[in-house]
Amino acid sequence: MTHIAIIGFGVVGGGITEVIRLNKKAILRATGDEINVKYILDLRDFPDSPYADRVVHDFSVILNDPEVKIVCETMGGVNPAFDYSMQALRAGKSVVTSNKELVANRGVELMAEAKKNGVSYMFEASAGGGIPEIRSLRTSFGGDTVSEIDGILNGTTNYILTKMKNEGADFADVLKEAQKLGYAEANPAADVDGIDAQRKIVILTAIVTNQLASCDKVYTETMTKITPADMDAAARWGGTVKLLGSSRIDHENGKAAIYVCPTFVPNSCPIAHVDDVYNGIRVNSPVTNDYMLYGRGAGRMPTAGAVVSDVVSILSGVGAKELAMDWEHAEDDFVLPFGDISFAYYVRISTDSVDETLEKARLVFGEIEVLAGSPAGCVEFITAKIAEKDANAAFEGGALGEVQSRIRLM
Ligand code: HSE
Repeated sequence: MTHIAIIGFGVVGGGITEVIRLNKKAILRATGDEINVKYILDLRDFPDSPYADRVVHDFSVILNDPEVKIVCETMGGVNPAFDYSMQALRAGKSVVTSNKELVANRGVELMAEAKKNGVSYMFEASAGGGIPEIRSLRTSFGGDTVSEIDGILNGTTNYILTKMKNEGADFADVLKEAQKLGYAEANPAADVDGIDAQRKIVILTAIVTNQLASCDKVYTETMTKITPADMDAAARWGGTVKLLGSSRIDHENGKAAIYVCPTFVPNSCPIAHVDDVYNGIRVNSPVTNDYMLYGRGAGRMPTAGAVVSDVVSILSGVGAKELAMDWEHAEDDFVLPFGDISFAYYVRISTDSVDETLEKARLVFGEIEVLAGSPAGCVEFITAKIAEKDANAAFEGGALGEVQSRIRLM
């Protein structure tokens, strides 16, 4: 019998007990052992839970119990999760987490501490929910040079965008639904403003570079400005709008372009068809040349399942050693300035004179593709690729008129 502790008994923490119960036989088969949840640390009591008698409020109870071999950290946030995780690792306990904020900010220190103490720090559940993309990037792409990652990395916003597209649903109503379903963060601004996806693309980039970029170097744009008119335009263009976390990695020069923003994705790309709470991660390398991972990116059971998969790896020895990583904090210039990155843009401008506006747009952007079927009083076009800073300069001062929308193309 292996004893574990869960710290943070919310949506994911609660799911862990359920996964262990449901998969008891499979876990026994994989590890030759049974898992017992000996303690649950939370500020609250859970008198109606079958695990009510395991609840403790003092972390030292877990820390000082030599029987506890693995701590599942599902608290969220950097502190006190960081302190508890460090203490557990120093006490010779492995730590498994779903906490992307913590991994994206302090993963370097936690991994180093795990190594020092001969234990594991694992985080499959921190990105992509139930998708085993951390294993996949680390092991299946181990000898490959991943140069591009594009991912729908946030289930909540994908759920919202899908409902807006298919049902013309209201943003606020769908967000409430996503919260009820246990997809959204405690503060859903982290979802809709792209912060959650930012942490995840930072983690995925670190897996293939060993460089943990500072989250604040990653250009991150909210999806709250996306309107039904944008959805309609994307459909007429031949695609859809998705919130993507992207990374373009220049291994030769040790640099990466990393950004999160609403993006027009063409229907020809499988990412365009990843709907609802699902996440999709497209990976490109000169060798593998287009690969995609797909699955439930949020929710109690898929995320808890990913946590338990790490626990099983540690107990069975299958994969735990391979998933140990040596990250370092990236230098400030690892992330390329966003202004230097080139994109093609979808643009919608209010105008009384379509011809005049198009003429001005051609002067600024050169060749443009005019989109047919625009709403009355508007003109819409797609630009050729242009550096972000040059596009910003072109729109500054309102020379082109009132820009209703500007969205980058994948
Ligand atoms: N709020 C996150 C999401 C949870 O919606 O994707 C999973 O990390």
